[in-house]
Amino acid sequence: MAQAVRKAFAAGADTYDRSRRKLVPCFDDFYRTAVELLPFAPDARVEILDLGAGTGLLSAMIAEAFPKARLTLFDLTPEMLTIARLRLRPLGKRVRFVTADFAAAAPSKSYDAVVSALAIHHLPDSGKRHLFADIFKYLTSGGVFINADQVAGESAAVDQRSRQRWMQRARELKVGERDLSAALERMKQDLPATVGQQLAWMRESGFTEVVCAYRNLIFAVLAGAKPAQAL
Ligand SMILES: C[S@@+](CC[C@H](N)C(=O)[O-])C[C@H]1O[C@@H](n2cnc3c(N)ncnc32)[C@H](O)[C@@H]1O
Repeated sequence: MAQAVRKAFAAGADTYDRSRRKLVPCFDDFYRTAVELLPFAPDARVEILDLGAGTGLLSAMIAEAFPKARLTLFDLTPEMLTIARLRLRPLGKRVRFVTADFAAAAPSKSYDAVVSALAIHHLPDSGKRHLFADIFKYLTSGGVFINADQVAGESAAVDQRSRQRWMQRARELKVGERDLSAALERMKQDLPATVGQQLAWMRESGFTEVVCAYRNLIFAVLAGAKPAQAL
């Protein structure tokens, strides 16, 4: 499973960034919501873990919003992290890179926030559920988990309609047919779950203040907090 995902992203790493705003038509609101859900003062010296960080898009936005935050970018595709290294080079020692499968390897310390964008939907449902429980353990008490991801529709009909509308919007934004085909090829590895199911798994793992803070067709931003007194 992880092998197939890595192969798909390795093949498209060098062209991944150029079509992001077209393939994620709600790009600004989607990523902005994820950043705005981080409950920190702008000058907070927080530690943040980005799971499936890819080329570093979300980490770069967080680093700009929180100039003293330190970020760990975790991803299994070295080709994606190579681009992230170039993007984040000006941040020097504020960033660290780990090439590993987040379903198999545990981070070596705790974090004030774990974030992820468009990555966790590559895991099967049992993997997502386990990962949510693991993330709860990686967080410091009072820490937050923010997952901006692709989600499934609540029924086959809703799912199909959302996917068709998403593709229509991408075409209206004039996505190149080659980039759309590459995205559709990568999407063969997708295993999205519904918002409701994922919120339930988060609660089951111990998260509180669990919420779907944003939804647009196949995209949603989910968040939860580790209670301040939890160990
Ligand atoms: C669609 S990209 C998203 C990248 C970035 N977060 C963004 O928002 O543009 C998905 C990334 O998740 C990574 N990924 C998928 N499954 C993973 C896993 N099990 N462990 C680590 N990284 C994973 C892929 O290698 C890829 O770089």
